[in-house]
Amino acid sequence: MTAEKKEWLLDLAQEARARSYSPYSNYAVGAALLCADGTVYQGCNIENASFGDTVCAERCAMFKAVYDGKREFTAIAVIGSGESPAFPCGICRQVMAEFCEKEFLIITANCDRTAVSTDTLAELLPHSFGPKDLL
Ligand code: THU
Repeated sequence: MTAEKKEWLLDLAQEARARSYSPYSNYAVGAALLCADGTVYQGCNIENASFGDTVCAERCAMFKAVYDGKREFTAIAVIGSGESPAFPCGICRQVMAEFCEKEFLIITANCDRTAVSTDTLAELLPHSFGPKDLL
């Protein structure tokens, strides 16, 4: 993926971050998921007073896309508060593994984009358990 396209996807993640509902952690996250057909689904973290009911930005975007019938994905950009790139949590990595190939790109950044990382799903979730194991 070109540097320009990464910046474009990060812009969309930054835009999505503004929709975050995170009054408990004050850690706002935005995600932009690029589908194989070129469409993009944005998501933000949505917290709950019952903390365990919180949904991460990545899963918000993934579930919106899957609901709309999308099943093939190219990349996701994620931007969060804090100094380091906002790497996806374990649950979000597992949800990605359900639908994405091991080459799926995960582009993460901090808010001011002084730290950016680009990794494949296989790098962030090696030896994953997934649909292939249940065949
Ligand atoms: N969060 C995400 O949105 N994505 C992740 O991959 C990690 C964590 C959110 C959940 C919660 O609202 C806040 O960040 C603090 O954990």
